[in-house]
Amino acid sequence: MRVLAIANQKGGVGKSTLAVHLAYAALEAGLRVLLVDMDKQGSLSLTFTEPSGAEPGLVASALYGEALPEGAQPQKISEKLGIIRADKALLSIDKAENAVMRYPAKALRTFSADYDLCIIDTPPLLGVRLMASLSAADFVVTPVSVGLYELAGVADLMQTIHVIRTQGFNPRLKHLGIVPMKTNTRATEEREALASLRERYGNAILPETLPERAPVRKAIARRVPVWQSTRGEGHQKAGQEWRAACNAILGRMA
Ligand SMILES: Nc1ncnc2c1ncn2[C@@H]1O[C@H](COP(=O)(O)OP(=O)(O)OP(=O)(O)O)[C@@H](O)[C@H]1O
Ligand SMILES: [Mg+2]
Repeated sequence: MRVLAIANQKGGVGKSTLAVHLAYAALEAGLRVLLVDMDKQGSLSLTFTEPSGAEPGLVASALYGEALPEGAQPQKISEKLGIIRADKALLSIDKAENAVMRYPAKALRTFSADYDLCIIDTPPLLGVRLMASLSAADFVVTPVSVGLYELAGVADLMQTIHVIRTQGFNPRLKHLGIVPMKTNTRATEEREALASLRERYGNAILPETLPERAPVRKAIARRVPVWQSTRGEGHQKAGQEWRAACNAILGRMA
């Protein structure tokens, strides 16, 4: 099982939307997918709802214990999809001691034979849960919006990834790169911001950009991938962009 974290401490940049679409793409490719929702807002849980009569399953805060509860399993949503849902107790994790940061990596290895890909959605906060997710991950991908405020946070995140790699948390963490998200290439300021991002971070900026497109919000509301039952040219375009980006990201993990 390879573990991919979606991370940016900035809120609303499209982390959960990307996590959900990567899951759809991986399932379509036949992979067994384990979702881990580290964000109390529970976006993954809202998208992948509980099948009726399903066992409650392991919750995310339990990953921060020294050992998992006996026999605990992710909730099965379908044959190839499992989820570890966000729960209220996640909020207290950020007040816990730093030692718990290492537990989720160990806990998730329990399921490594049951799944091919584990996708971790992280909260918009540079705290214990983000550090723990990066410690557990083989790969991290960073959606970034290109506004002034959003860009200011990228350096902090790069620094955090560097700390995780070099200070004994997780030397094998690989940064797949930055995905420019919700861009509006018609705005001069945004084109300039994107250019300066490329100048500063070079190859770390992935070639796939995901522009602001209304069908993305609609697809999320309908709980389907944006490339499914596309209607009209705009929708089709959005579908193609997202499918290509998700497949490219998954392909880079090979
Ligand atoms: N390319 C896009 N075009 C249009 N809307 C988008 C796009 N990407 C994301 N969105 C929308 O932007 C909103 C925020 O996205 P999302 O919840 O994925 O961000 P997030 O980074 O997970 O936020 P948080 O930090 O609060 O968890 C959602 O309503 C989502 O549908
Ligand atoms: Mg989110």
